[in-house]
Formats: sequence, C-alpha cells, structure tokens
Amino acid sequence: MLSTETRTVTRPAIRVDGLTKRFADRAAFEGLTFEVAAGEVFGLLGPNGAGKTTTVRVLSTLLPLTSGTAEVAGVALEAANRPEVRRRISVMPETPGLYVRLTVRDNLEFFAGLYGLSRPEAHRRIGQTLALVGLAGRADDLAGSLSKGLRQRTALARPYFPTRPYCSWTNPRRGSTRSPRRRSARSSAACEIGGPPCS
Ligand SMILES: Nc1ncnc2c1ncn2[C@@H]1O[C@H](COP(=O)(O)OP(=O)(O)OP(=O)(O)O)[C@@H](O)[C@H]1O
Ligand SMILES: [Mg+2]
Repeated sequence: MLSTETRTVTRPAIRVDGLTKRFADRAAFEGLTFEVAAGEVFGLLGPNGAGKTTTVRVLSTLLPLTSGTAEVAGVALEAANRPEVRRRISVMPETPGLYVRLTVRDNLEFFAGLYGLSRPEAHRRIGQTLALVGLAGRADDLAGSLSKGLRQRTALARPYFPTRPYCSWTNPRRGSTRSPRRRSARSSAACEIGGPPCS
C-alpha cells in the first residue's frame, strides 16, 4: 500500500567518514568519522598534535583531504565544491586576523562584503552582532587598540555573516571571556551549526 506520509530527512550539518590527512609520511589524523547535527555544538578534543586544527583546516577547504569523504553544510568536500563550501561556513581561528588599522566597524564591513551582503544588510547585521558580542560601544575604535579578548570578540562577530545555512568553527584557547553563544566552551576546537542567526 502506498503511504502518504511525508518525511523530512535532515542531513547532518557535517558528515565525516574515514577522513585521513597526511603530510608527507606523517598522518595528522587517520580514519576520522563523525557527524554533527544541525544546531549541535560539537567539541573536538585531543592532545597536542592530535590533528584538531588540521581537521578544521581540511573541513574549511584550506587543506585538501588525503582520503575518506566529508560533507559540510550539505556540500561534498571536493575540490570543485570549494567555493560553495566557503560560502556556507565561517571560521574563527585562534588568531583573530583583523586589520589593526581599521576600526571594528570597518573590519566587519569588509568581511560582510566578502559574504556579498548589501550595505544596508551589512549595516543591520553589524549592529546586531556588535551588540551580541558586547562591542556596541567600541565600533569606532581601531581594532589595533583593542585588548586581546576584545579582538577575539570582534572576530567572533564575523561568523554571523553567512546568509545561508552555515557552520562556524572556532579554536578557543584563551582571550575572549564572554562568548555569547558558547560561554563555557572548553574544547580546543568547537563547531556550531545552524541557520542564519540574524534574520
Ligand atoms: N602544514 C603542515 N605540514 C606538516 N605537518 C603538519 C602541518 N600542519 C600540521 N602538521 C602536523 O599534523 C599533526 C597535527 O597537527 P595539528 O596542528 O592539527 O594538531 P592539534 O591537535 O591542533 O594540536 P594543538 O593542540 O597543539 O593545537 C602534527 O603532527 C603537526 O606537526
Ligand atoms: Mg591546534
């Protein structure tokens, strides 16, 4: 008998299956397999040299994988799909990577532009994200004049720019003491996946 039931199949936000990354004769990690559901906060823990940062770099398309398969935000991690994966993710690395001679707002406008946001949309989201990370009063300060933790908060505002389903990666170590959506992140690498947060 035919069923009229309609099922919504939710694909994992990240799917990693037997992923291996080698540098010459050394494996950074081997046979890594995991899934991260949409909306899940996922921690990747391991000792120094275990391959956490390399995993984030591979999933961010900054490094090619050696073997295995992975899907990020519904897109297969293949060389041809690199631009599409990049449009769907944000990465907050350990070092904030801000332009120190630009203001906080100018930095965020620059990154919003990279995501293709219109100026009005960028303006709206920057206002929201600055409030979210507690920097509304520092928008016109030079990034170079901020403390380390405040620079990290500025960098944290960047992952809120993608306009599609997105993955946001971070490598929290020290510095930011008040991550608005991840106050208690203790892992060396964490991943947060969800829809556009500023709608
Ligand atoms: N570009 C590279 N070239 C060669 N080897 C590399 C490269 N990047 C990382 N590795 C090696 O891959 C392994 C995993 O490194 P990775 O930086 O991913 O570890 P990690 O888990 O992030 O460590 P930590 O906790 O110290 O940050 C290490 O042995 C490292 O030396
Ligand atoms: Mg690391």
